[in-house]
Amino acid sequence: MISSTLNKGLSLFKSNPITEQIDFASKKSIPIRHLAIGFEGKQIDLSFYMNNQFATIFFATLSVFLTYGEDLVIETARHHRDLLKDPILKQRVTSLIGQEAIHSKLHNEFNDAIVELDYPVRLYRFLGEKFFDYIFLKFPQPLKLSLMAGIEHFTAVLAEYMMAHEQNFYFSDDAKTRALWMWHMLEESEHKDVAYDVYQTLNGNYALRVTGFFLAYFTILGLIPFSATLVPVLRKPQEMLTAKFWKDARRGVKLIFSPKDGVFGSTQGRIFDYLRRDFHPNDHDASHYFEYYEKKLLSEGGALHPFFVKEFTPKIQAA
Ligand SMILES: [Fe+2]
Ligand SMILES: [Fe+2]
Repeated sequence: MISSTLNKGLSLFKSNPITEQIDFASKKSIPIRHLAIGFEGKQIDLSFYMNNQFATIFFATLSVFLTYGEDLVIETARHHRDLLKDPILKQRVTSLIGQEAIHSKLHNEFNDAIVELDYPVRLYRFLGEKFFDYIFLKFPQPLKLSLMAGIEHFTAVLAEYMMAHEQNFYFSDDAKTRALWMWHMLEESEHKDVAYDVYQTLNGNYALRVTGFFLAYFTILGLIPFSATLVPVLRKPQEMLTAKFWKDARRGVKLIFSPKDGVFGSTQGRIFDYLRRDFHPNDHDASHYFEYYEKKLLSEGGALHPFFVKEFTPKIQAA
């Protein structure tokens, strides 16, 4: 039903693929890294993000729901990879799929572990699964592709903020949660242009791109904060009777939404830059960050070093 109605609506969005050739060969290849972290519930610091429980719960909620977003990205990327002609863009899509598959796996391990901290993982997994199965995964492929590009824009902006505020990950001794987020942010930044390039190559319609952006906006900055706000009610409602809880919550809201320096509050300009007709993810150059992080995090003594297993770069297959 959703799918046939949307298919009719989508016929109004004529595809308009970009015709100028992008030199994909000049782009840095994207490695797929395997990590083994081994989360244990009792070791996870629920005030990991800047000693603040509210903000940490926001990220835990993001962790639960983003696995469904990543599964959608993987499914959509697989479908569209077959339609691409450029062998290097195809290879980049394979890297994107590989990175997202391992993100989803490790976030699921983290999510399994926070059950022990009374986080409502089972309920939110149930809701996330139904939401994606009955709505987003029913979308026609062009809309899924624009949604995927929109989601990837949000994770790229988040990654850039986090890499520019590295110190925010060092308020806690929880090295495993730190490794999870720093590795994930590095890779989101590395593959941030892949979904967009696929969208522009295969479709390119501006109105449809904007539609995908607003769907991602509504999900990431509407449903996730709403779900995060309900966690204390579901988890330990008695804590809400204390002044300490409300002080923490006020600070947490600022850490995420303050227009001055909040994670999403201060990056609204970057987020909405996506609406520029000639926008490209590489207009926000973060290459200096990921070169720095790749070296710093993976070398001896780095945050990822104890958990690193192996990495490989997919082969370029002839078209
Ligand atoms: Fe990811
Ligand atoms: Fe991604």
